[in-house]
Amino acid sequence: MSEDPSEGVVRRDRFSGGPARGFLSSLAADERIFQADLAVDRAHVVMLAEQDIVDDDTVGEILAALDDVESAGHGALPDGEDVHEAIESAVIDRMGADGGKMHTARSRNDEVATCIRYRLREDVLGVVENTIALREALVSVAEKHTETVMPGYTHLQPAQPTTVAHYLLSYEAAVARDTARLLDAYDRINQSPLGAAAFAGTPFDVDRERTAELLGFDSVMSNSMDASAARDFLAETLSALATYATTLSGLAEDIIIFANKGYVDLDDDYSSTSSIMPQKKNPDTLELVRGTAGDAVGGLTGLLTTLKGLPRAYNRDLQRAHGHAFDAVDAVGNATDVAGGAVATATWNTELLAAEAADGFSTATGVADLLAMAGLPFRTAHEMVAEAAAEANGENPTVATLDAVAEEVLGASLWEYVNRDAVEAALDPTQSVASRDSQGGPAPSAVADDLDAVVSALDADTAALATRRDALAAADEQLATEVTRYD
Ligand code: ARG
Repeated sequence: MSEDPSEGVVRRDRFSGGPARGFLSSLAADERIFQADLAVDRAHVVMLAEQDIVDDDTVGEILAALDDVESAGHGALPDGEDVHEAIESAVIDRMGADGGKMHTARSRNDEVATCIRYRLREDVLGVVENTIALREALVSVAEKHTETVMPGYTHLQPAQPTTVAHYLLSYEAAVARDTARLLDAYDRINQSPLGAAAFAGTPFDVDRERTAELLGFDSVMSNSMDASAARDFLAETLSALATYATTLSGLAEDIIIFANKGYVDLDDDYSSTSSIMPQKKNPDTLELVRGTAGDAVGGLTGLLTTLKGLPRAYNRDLQRAHGHAFDAVDAVGNATDVAGGAVATATWNTELLAAEAADGFSTATGVADLLAMAGLPFRTAHEMVAEAAAEANGENPTVATLDAVAEEVLGASLWEYVNRDAVEAALDPTQSVASRDSQGGPAPSAVADDLDAVVSALDADTAALATRRDALAAADEQLATEVTRYD
């Protein structure tokens, strides 16, 4: 039996981990949830006092000890299997055995699940904020380039002329869905497992709604076995992050290609040089943004592999689960900042883009559309224009070539269908873009309509973020107020 009854610890001595102690311990990694654990401890003991499970004086002493532990910081914690055990030991060190009443009616299993959710929700809101900033950057550059025509690609081949605004807003639309996925994930993260105890509830008359309220959770996860075991919120978050990182990697790749063609010039702040080749200006920042998708997808794979086939309820494998989500949230948040900065500060080479917008006969579809609008079956028009493209042999066909091919393929002059001005307009990239004014198309008028909707959606997401942050701040304040009652 240990000398000091406050340690209460024959079992702790015996099961201290032996040679595997370091392997078992998550204390260092738990620094990330140090503040979360203090908040969870505070809410839990306030509830224990309110429910007359632990007397007010003892709770006051525990709360004072927790303040002290907080000031000393994570680095000053005694050795422990994890932050939960170490904080409890630190409280007991300060006030004696009664500090152990802090762990009444709970387990580290519901405690750690609560701490992860408490911390991750804040991190996810951070990434939501990053995505909104990136979308704002995309929109503000797009607003300046609604008339800047550029080549559009499929299969990396020139396909149809579009505009820089239309291109950038295509990514804004994708990132908007990523924002929505992260907000959806947030709403399922923000549910409280606390009070589930190990997995099987507790005979104490705990008030789970109260601890949820004090910690800013939107609801209680009722089934105690589900509450302590569930980690699907990590999978959902990482899946949203991996999907988003994949979107970002496409944006990064495009801009790397455009920089390579001279279409866009990255600001020096977002470029690197070579240690040997003095002339080099490399898009390393965007290559790392592209590479971040590997981290997020790898993290998701690692997490799901850890979770797959785990039996109910708690298993220590879970200690290795949440790190994947925290790593990804950091990596993807940072990549977003860099991508947003690179987009906001890059310079588009409008002259070169205009000069090359019609390369590869990318206006061909517009000519076929013109003939189809004049009544020719689209397939026939398509074949005729394809024939003209073949005759032009890599060059863009002239009006005269088109007319000659019309005689050959249609057995009629082109001018029986359309007038010369209309054909010339279809061949001109700027007019080609302007003609495609269907909803969501690249015509400046269509992009202007889209921009209005995009700006309102951005405002709505900014408000959704603020609502969630305000709710967390209000809960924080409420908890701080309740704590002062025990001074
Ligand atoms: N450190 C553990 C984790 O992160 C929580 C402790 C639960 N440990 C236990 N043996 N039940 O999952």
